[in-house]
Formats: sequence, C-alpha cells, structure tokens
Amino acid sequence: MSAVRLLLLSLLCALFVSLCHGACSEVDSDTEAVAGKGFKLGCISCKMRPEVEASATVDWYFKAKGEADYAHIYNYDEEGQHVVDERFEDRVDWNGSKRSQDIQDASIYLFNVTFNDSGTYRCFFHRLLTYEFYEYQTDVSKVVHLTVVAKATRGTASIVSEVMMYVSIIGLQAWLYIEMVYCFRKISAAGEEALRESANAEYLAIASESKDNCAGVQVAE
Ligand SMILES: *[C@@H]1O[C@H](CO)[C@@H](O)[C@H](O)[C@H]1NC(C)=O
Ligand SMILES: *[C@@H]1O[C@H](CO)[C@@H](O)[C@H](O)[C@H]1NC(C)=O
Ligand SMILES: *[C@@H]1O[C@H](CO)[C@@H](O)[C@H](O)[C@H]1NC(C)=O
Repeated sequence: MSAVRLLLLSLLCALFVSLCHGACSEVDSDTEAVAGKGFKLGCISCKMRPEVEASATVDWYFKAKGEADYAHIYNYDEEGQHVVDERFEDRVDWNGSKRSQDIQDASIYLFNVTFNDSGTYRCFFHRLLTYEFYEYQTDVSKVVHLTVVAKATRGTASIVSEVMMYVSIIGLQAWLYIEMVYCFRKISAAGEEALRESANAEYLAIASESKDNCAGVQVAE
C-alpha cells in the first residue's frame, strides 16, 4: 500500500516538475528521411539547472557523405534564422524553441529532402548561463547521422517489438484462460463439497432433533 502511494507521489512530483520547467527531455533525432518529403532534424540540449536563466544561439554544420569537412549551413540567434549554405537555401525552417532566447530545442526542418542531404549533421548550442554574480558560457554539440531512402522502411526493432507484443498478449490471455478454468473447477468442487457437507449437517441436525423429540416424548411419557 505504501509502495503504491510512494509511486503515485513520485509520479505527481515528476508531472509537477515537468510542467514547471517545460518538460525538457533529450530525445534523439530520427535518422531516416524519405526523398522528396520533409524531415525534422532533431537536436535538444536541456539545461542542467532548469531554474538558471540562460540564452543560447545555435549553429548547424553538415558533412555530406564522402566529404571530409563540415560546412556551416545554418545559424539561429536573437535576430532569427540565416541559411548560410546555398544547398539549403529556402529549404530550412526553424523547428526549435519558439519565442524564447532560452533555446533548449534547436531542431530544424528540411523541406524536399534529396539524396544529397545524406550525411552527418552537427548542431551546436552556445549557451550563456546567468547566475546572480557571474555568467557562464557552455557549448554543447550533438550529431545526427542522416540516411535518405526512397521509401520509408520499418526498422527491424519495431517489427520485433510488434511481434513480441502479440506473443505476450496471446500468452497472457492463454494464461488467464487456464487460470479461470482451474479456478472454476476448484470452486465448483469446493461448492459440491460444501453442499454435501451441509446436506450431511442438515441430516444430522434433523436426526438429532428427532432424537430430542423422541427423548422429549419419552420423558413426557
Ligand atoms: C516544423 O516546421 C515545419 C515547417 O515550417 C512545420 O510544418 C512543422 O509543423 C514544424 N513542426 C514543429 C514540431 O514545430
Ligand atoms: C518542394 O517540392 C515541390 C515539388 O517539387 C515544390 O512545389 C515545393 O515548392 C518545394 N518546397 C520547397 C519548400 O522548396
Ligand atoms: C546532388 O549532387 C550532385 C553532385 O554534387 C549534383 O549534380 C546534383 O544536382 C545534386 N542533386 C540535387 C537534387 O541537388
């Protein structure tokens, strides 16, 4: 009982904390884009101390498959976004934190993905943390390896987990069924036993009552 209460309490706390601080969690980006479609390049860096005020600017770099160096492709700061690389001209939109300089989500959206977009992307957060008496500069970077495919494929992991789901559902149901049959048998056997016992008890009661009556009759005589 107390374990359940503790669990509930911690769930409530987690909910409260996440509501208060905008629920930042560092989800990894998808890594497979479909040619001709749009794709969100995810990049999230949560502040270690959510209560500390901060401001950040973001840079994205790209290294195409087979290339040796990263090229600067995109910048986002208080003035908005700038696409630096002509390969991405008019094809990128900000998908990160909105209406805030305190950027923790620096995701960008690529329109009309081509096979040339395959490669490695790197996002950089340049974050200035403002404490009461000093400021602290941190740089965080994350890497996304993007593969562009002609058609969406399903990862083996998702197929395996779906199969496992069905197996476990069927297994659980079979187990429930067996348990039910077992319990039913046990209960009906116990019921019969009880019936027999109560019949016996009744018979005995009647027998002893009649004996008493007989005794009474005998006494009266
Ligand atoms: C990301 O940007 C694209 C294009 O502007 C938009 O369609 C999409 O809804 C955005 N997604 C999020 C989560 O902001
Ligand atoms: C994407 O491609 C379609 C068709 O080729 C075009 O109509 C559309 O304007 C393109 N969108 C962007 C943002 O380039
Ligand atoms: C892809 O790159 C090749 C070589 O740089 C170029 O010739 C081609 O036009 C590019 N394709 C697209 C769709 O940008």
